[in-house]
Amino acid sequence: MESNKRPENMERITTPALAEAFIAQQVTEIQAQVGDKKVLLALSGGVDSSVVAALLIKAVGKQLVCVHVNHGLLRKGEPEQVVKVFRDEMDANLVYVDAVDRFLDKLAGVAEPEQKRKIIGAEFIRVFEEEARKQEGIQFLAQGTIYPDILESGPVKAHHNVGGLPEDLQFELVEPLKFLFKDEVRVVGKALGLPDGMVYRQPFPGPGLGVRCLGAITRDRLEAVRESDAILREEFAKNGLEGKVWQYFTIVPDFKSVGVRDNKRADEWPVIIRAVNTKDAMTATVEDVPFALLQHITKRITSEVSGVNRVCYDLTPKPTGTIEWE
Ligand code: XMP
Repeated sequence: MESNKRPENMERITTPALAEAFIAQQVTEIQAQVGDKKVLLALSGGVDSSVVAALLIKAVGKQLVCVHVNHGLLRKGEPEQVVKVFRDEMDANLVYVDAVDRFLDKLAGVAEPEQKRKIIGAEFIRVFEEEARKQEGIQFLAQGTIYPDILESGPVKAHHNVGGLPEDLQFELVEPLKFLFKDEVRVVGKALGLPDGMVYRQPFPGPGLGVRCLGAITRDRLEAVRESDAILREEFAKNGLEGKVWQYFTIVPDFKSVGVRDNKRADEWPVIIRAVNTKDAMTATVEDVPFALLQHITKRITSEVSGVNRVCYDLTPKPTGTIEWE
């Protein structure tokens, strides 16, 4: 059985030169493993799956089939960026699946957070499975497993992620990053020519904006989360906070409060801003965002995001608050 332990003599990948050496070695190994067969990859656009995609494109080109499922819960511009980087710039074999209506229909009326997570996870596997069945001759499944995934879940974790696929769709795994830590994955991604916005992006939960649109998801509130998140990210980037703050995002609760718009009282939603720092996500502290910047962001969100009349800043560390609101 293949070892799941990082070789003791493996040097930490901290420089472009070390990344190049790792890439060259992986390209050789992937070519030897895959031969002339086809490989399937669920490409979310997150750091790990993007680096795996770039590495496999280098090794086996169009034998890699990337499947990007747009479930409607991604951040503004993300699906477009995946298409631009991988299809347009890297000439990858990319299947783009617009599953927005499918996911939002399944989630309609579901308010319980764990239930929402389950629906999103199960539907994701179903969509991916359908796409896998449309492809001929796939023998391998590439995954962005990294070393902390293996350490956290014990030695059998490498096979855990394919557990969701049915028996007749069990593929051999290709996991080129399985001995790397996150910071090493970023150095490799940079050496592979991926854009900084992809390589250095903040952590983003699997259920995406679905757990930031509190309670039962509606399309209009989901757009309010997406648009306010985009403004927050833009302003943090402009003001030197991108890459400095560990995680920052907006939340839209499922209630309204009264405000004034065009000289009339109007009920609209609040947007909550959360910006936290942490090492391991077990505890977190709140970022001390300059008050003037918070006021500027408030002004932009209340004037640019439809249906929002208030902005609040969450001052709660973890504990007692978790990082996400659901
Ligand atoms: P909490 O909210 O528990 O979050 O303090 C800790 C970290 O985990 C992320 N998170 C998730 N990631 N699926 C994920 O992949 C999830 O369902 C999920 N829930 C929370 C959260 O963004 C934070 O980084």
